[in-house]
Amino acid sequence: MTSQKVRKAVFPVAGLGTRFLPATKAVPKEVLPLVDRPLIQYAIDEAREAGVTDFIFVTAKGKSALENYFDGAPDLVRSLKAKGKTDLLAAIEPSNMASGAISYIRQQEALGLGHAVWCARRLIGDEPFAVILPDDVIASDQPCLSQMVDAFEQTGGNIVAAMSVPESQISSHGVIDPKGRNGRLVEMKGMVEKPDAQDAPSNLAVIGRYILNSSVMANLAAMKVGAGGEIQLTDAIADDIRHGVATYGCQFEGQRYDCGSKAGFLQATVAFALARDDLRQEFGDFLVSMMAISEAAE
Ligand code: G1P
Repeated sequence: MTSQKVRKAVFPVAGLGTRFLPATKAVPKEVLPLVDRPLIQYAIDEAREAGVTDFIFVTAKGKSALENYFDGAPDLVRSLKAKGKTDLLAAIEPSNMASGAISYIRQQEALGLGHAVWCARRLIGDEPFAVILPDDVIASDQPCLSQMVDAFEQTGGNIVAAMSVPESQISSHGVIDPKGRNGRLVEMKGMVEKPDAQDAPSNLAVIGRYILNSSVMANLAAMKVGAGGEIQLTDAIADDIRHGVATYGCQFEGQRYDCGSKAGFLQATVAFALARDDLRQEFGDFLVSMMAISEAAE
């Protein structure tokens, strides 16, 4: 049991988004819409629902549209109010951030995820904190981070989101070396970043949600270069495990979409559109007709 609260979340959003070129030449990946909401909005909502009050973005050059998205829009609000458009006012409501709730830190050099998180160290101080990678979108009844906060309150230590993946995907993830299991929580004895499938300690991959102790920040300060020549968050968490900090993989309930890939983004778009009352019928009928056309063409 821990009485420590997770109030702060780090959103590493400095990546170039090259997989979505040419769109990301002009628009940050995190602002691309999943149905009608930018990817980043899903991450913010999830953090809020888990009790996060301080949102720390680690950004880079070319991300001003992301920062602007969270600005107030008094002219738009005035015009929507004057027209009685309460539904649209409700739609923009989640993008309103309380004054001072959001901070932007620059990552001057693309040195890896671990380095991006380390850039937020002064704002984190010595509190536990969450890290959310907005590329990983998770549809679930109880938001993934909130499931992890529940687990953290029971166990303390570090918690990462975990999911079994097929062998072909192992080398794209951090992978858990399991020690024991308690329900959905897998205690770890180690963690490896992007191993070859044949060397991997398990098929339990890390998904982009973390609750970490400030000791992980201290480990990152060593600037150890790991897989891919980058400073890896995984390595700093593995250091914590070696130092005796209890660390768990939380096999969350929910469906994860890898919106860092084109296929994953499209899958999420279809799933989220079909989950919407205002789109299900028309979009569903369209998908059925598309399937019939493609089957007829085979
Ligand atoms: C990052 C982490 C990796 C994790 C993945 C989850 O990798 O380094 O451990 O499994 O996110 O999405 P990236 O996808 O940024 O290369």
